[in-house]
Amino acid sequence: MATQILLKNIDVPGLAEIQVYRKLGGYTAVEKALKTLSPDEVTDEVKKSGLKGRGGAGFPTGMKWSFIDKQSQKAKYLVCNYDESEPGTFKDRHIGQLNPHQLIEGMILGSYALGANTAYIYIRGELFYVLRIIEKAIAEAYKNGFLGENILGSGYSLDLYCHPGAGAYICGEETALLESLEGKRGNPRIKPPFPAIVGLYGSPTVVNNVETIATLPWIVNNGGEAYSAIGIGNSKGTKLISACGHINKPGIYEIELGLPVEEFIYSDEYCGGIRNGNKLKAVVAGGSSVPILPANLILKTAAGEPRLMSYESLSEGGFQTGTMLGSGGFIVMDHTACIVKNLLTFARFYRHESCGQCSPCREGTSWMEKILMRIEGGQGTMKDIDLLVDIAKHVEGNTICPLGDAAAWPVASAIRHFREEFEEHVKLQKCPF
Ligand SMILES: Cc1cc2nc3c(=O)[nH]c(=O)nc-3n(C[C@H](O)[C@H](O)[C@H](O)COP(=O)(O)O)c2cc1C
Ligand code: SF4
Repeated sequence: MATQILLKNIDVPGLAEIQVYRKLGGYTAVEKALKTLSPDEVTDEVKKSGLKGRGGAGFPTGMKWSFIDKQSQKAKYLVCNYDESEPGTFKDRHIGQLNPHQLIEGMILGSYALGANTAYIYIRGELFYVLRIIEKAIAEAYKNGFLGENILGSGYSLDLYCHPGAGAYICGEETALLESLEGKRGNPRIKPPFPAIVGLYGSPTVVNNVETIATLPWIVNNGGEAYSAIGIGNSKGTKLISACGHINKPGIYEIELGLPVEEFIYSDEYCGGIRNGNKLKAVVAGGSSVPILPANLILKTAAGEPRLMSYESLSEGGFQTGTMLGSGGFIVMDHTACIVKNLLTFARFYRHESCGQCSPCREGTSWMEKILMRIEGGQGTMKDIDLLVDIAKHVEGNTICPLGDAAAWPVASAIRHFREEFEEHVKLQKCPF
């Protein structure tokens, strides 16, 4: 059985209540940190752990924290990114709903390390029921002396607020999130400056994903080295994977990084194989924003090595033959799936969610959707396929935020690996599925 850091106690009845969480060892990391470790020592443990941000980009968490200017006279903020809206990604929802105190404990540890006395959990608007659970847990934490003035007599104080978004995917992009938290329209900011320098209300800010933050209590309790002993290469620790699509056991799994993809898809411990014994056709491994891979390239790299669930192995071969671990949204398609139709669904999503600030994204996403509608509807031409590739190329890398790339990569990769399926749509003048 793989190490469980995030899901270990998830089925314990009443885990969302502070007494139950405490009985299972909850808040001991806060006690340890506030009584025996300095803020820099907490940061050092996180650096040693090798933890990478679980929101998608995989940036090393300890390094991100070290960009905060501790000497700055301005307030510092920790903001938890709970916007989780990427198609195929539904891992964070679980943590707040069933184990909110682990997230709150992580928020206290991260805030202490950064010197923040105010912290926010920015939660996706549709998850209002989770917000209520978190707010109840926050109230319990205040009552038990883990939040508020002079926590556990340490002299350290922290106020924690949970703030709902209004249901826009773009507000998951960290600078759009900060704009939204400030009460403005959630348009991404041009970077640099990065939030660590100019973040919330112009102050030094760290934005971290829910899973990243909920991992901190384990790291503080067990030490960074113990965490870095789990995993493979530079992919340390465990990772939540939300698996969906044509598998026998869709759900949320906590894996040790380095697990072979084949084992993840076919073993009974995880996805349990493809439904009805069907043939695996393709996988989108890290949420809708990453390149799609056909069965042969998701199970083995182009060099014939077994593909592993790790940052390095999934990206092996670059975008020609590889993909990304991303947010851990693992979408499996069997041989009955139409790649064009799936791509159209993604394209529609990105067109709808583009904030419209930059023209390559605003125009490109709607143009790609229109062409895909044409091809799927049987009115496409061979030229349309090349046009799609061309548009994707012009969107990628030419936008303010990575939503443009996220819209372009699935298109470019689907045509790279499944071009004959697009051509078949054109030749038959209908969808062959
Ligand atoms: C369009 C878009 C949506 C995003 N949505 C999320 C999200 O819902 N949750 C999240 O943690 N990160 C999301 N990110 C990534 C964040 O910008 C940021 O990198 C992340 O919150 C940093 O946390 P981490 O270092 O712990 O991964 C999104 C990025 C983009 C471009
Ligand atoms: S890439 Fe798209 S979502 Fe991002 S800022 Fe530009 S228009 Fe907005």
